[in-house]
Formats: sequence, C-alpha cells, structure tokens
Amino acid sequence: MKKKLKIPFARPVININKSINLIKDVLNKNFPNEGEFTRNFEKKISTLLKTKYVITSTSGTSAIFLALKAINVLPEDEVLVPNITFPATANAVKLTGAKVVLVDVNKNDLLINIDDLKKKITRKTKAIIPVHISGRGGNILELIQFAKSKKIKVIEDAAEALTSKSGSRFLGTFGDAGCFSFAPNKIITTGQGGIIVTKDKKIFDSLKRLKDQGRVGMTTGGEDKYSTIGFNFKFTNLQGALGLSQLSNLKKRIKILRENYLIYEKNLNQNDNFRLIGFRIKKGEVPLWTDAYCKKRNALFKYLKTQGVTCRYFWHPLNYCKPYKQSFSKFKNSKFFFKKLIWLPSSLDTSKKDILKVCKLINNFYKT
Ligand SMILES: Cc1ncc(COP(=O)(O)O)c(C=O)c1O
Repeated sequence: MKKKLKIPFARPVININKSINLIKDVLNKNFPNEGEFTRNFEKKISTLLKTKYVITSTSGTSAIFLALKAINVLPEDEVLVPNITFPATANAVKLTGAKVVLVDVNKNDLLINIDDLKKKITRKTKAIIPVHISGRGGNILELIQFAKSKKIKVIEDAAEALTSKSGSRFLGTFGDAGCFSFAPNKIITTGQGGIIVTKDKKIFDSLKRLKDQGRVGMTTGGEDKYSTIGFNFKFTNLQGALGLSQLSNLKKRIKILRENYLIYEKNLNQNDNFRLIGFRIKKGEVPLWTDAYCKKRNALFKYLKTQGVTCRYFWHPLNYCKPYKQSFSKFKNSKFFFKKLIWLPSSLDTSKKDILKVCKLINNFYKT
C-alpha cells in the first residue's frame, strides 16, 4: 500500500545527540537553574546578532513585557501594535497596564502600516512594537527614523525573525530593544524561552533586575539587595544547553528555510486566487514560515488536510479578538486579509520533494 503523505506545518528539529551531551553536562554539574549554559547561550546570540547586550527570558511574550517595563511603559501610556500579529504582542502591552493602540498593516507585506501609524500617534504614545511577521522586516528603517523624530521608543517583536536581516543589520537590533522567541516552531527552540537584545546598558541593567525579583548582582540566596520589584523569568541551563546544541548548525537551518521558500516561489501558480506574501531574500530576510494570501482559504486548508498536508491558519486580526474588539472600518487592509491568510508547511525537515507535492496540490486546487 502507498504510504500516506504527512507533511506538518512546522515541528522542532533538535540535534538529539548533541543536545543530550550538553544536557548531560548540565546534569553532571547538578545546576539545572539559570547559570553558565544560559550565559553561554546569551554570549553566542550576542556574537551572532552583533549586539552588545543580550538577556534571556522565559518566552517571547515575557521578553516583550520585560522590554516594555525596562523602557518604563506605564499605565497612562499608549503603545502601537500592528493589528495582524500573534496576541502575545498586544498582551505584553496589556500586562504593563498601558493602552494597546491597533494599527493597520500593509497590503503587500503584512507589516505595520506607517501611514496609519502616523495618524495614531498622540501625546501619550510611548512606544511602537513593529512585528517581523514570518521573518519579514521590510520597513524597519523608515519606522525607526520616524520614531526617532518623535522621540518614541521602538521595541521590535522579532519572535519569528532570529537571523533575518534588513540589509546588513539583523532584525531585532534596530530598535531600543528586540525580542525573540524559542517556542517549538521557531528556527531554534528551547521548548519555551525568549531573549531580549539591546545596545542600551541602562535598559540591560533594568532587564536584569526585572527578570530576577529586582535583585542587584549575583544571588547569594540570602541577604541579597532588591532595588525594585521584579519577576522570576529565568532561563535554565537545561534550556541553554538545548539552545546551544541547535545554534551549532544555524547556518544550515537558514539555508534550508531559504531554499524551501524558493521552491514554493518557483513552483506555485500565483494569481488573484493565490499569492505568496513573499520575502526579500536578497536583502537578507530569512523566511521562517512561507505565508500566502488565498481565496477559498478554508476549503484549501481542508483539501490539503485530506491529502496529508497540514497548513496553519493565520491568527485573526486583533480587532476581531474579544480583548481588543473594534470594527473593521478603520482596518481596511486587515479586512482584506481576514480569513484569507495561510502558512504553508515550513518545517526545517520538509523535503524538497514534499514541497513540490504541496505546490502541485495547491495549483490543482485552484485549477478545478
Ligand atoms: C509574532 C510573535 N510575537 C510574540 C510571540 C510570543 O512568543 P512566545 O510564544 O515565545 O511567548 C510569538 C510566538 O510565536 C510570535 O509569533
């Protein structure tokens, strides 16, 4: 009997032998808490992204929250967030008590729309969180320049963009701080986990205290000094070991993601019914997940599922979600994309042959 095709949207690719060796080291040292493997992981990310200060956290969500706290976002402030993003971006703002102000996205690349953003600036605007969806960061320089001119802080949500670049610089290193996620469907995963990068020593010092109960300096376990209130967002040595084991073949991971995306780009028929959102590979973007605009999206999803192919629906725009409910009238582009966005299988271990099969199935679906 012919084996049934099973192609996932994304799944972790962990170098088990390498990670087991590192995890054994952690266990042999009997120090599973945050420690030297965490520091080592941070150092490697700092070198990789060519950024001075790097600090781990428990997740991408907590990383964004900490970054907002570190730039002193207060309940009376407003923070601008693109309307199409994972709710984590807006939830992190809500957790600070500040007001979430939703901004429409661009029709070509799903990134925060700068014209709409300009209309939503008020005296209370403290920060903007651009989101590098699927690894795309096209308009970051324009946004940074605008924010600077208005003295507004920028916290980049680069959860999906580790190693993606805009020109010669890595996404996540343009703003006051950049936040990354190591959840299981990212380019590397530590189970859960996140990291914040910044070039600002003051922000870094503040982050260090905020993630560890407001503690100053190393823990002695006893009479430590606590200068502020803080949280427990430690990133353990076990997570560090897992992260380090995957960083060692990062170049290969990037290559696979680029090659896989280019197979989609070359082989999918693009027209009014179906088009890829697209990446600027030559400008340095790393396509973590290949995303597309498509008519009859739910039918396409179901059809592919029957053929053993799992895609992923995009998140609903935030204005459609209960905590952020607003009418679509002010979000024309979000409305255009509503229930028409999909992620195609983008796992690091998807074979070229399987991607070609997905392309064929999609092309056939729109032919009939
Ligand atoms: C755009 C975006 N922002 C934030 C997050 C939150 O990261 P985490 O799941 O690590 O909290 C994610 C996670 O997938 C994301 O895709």
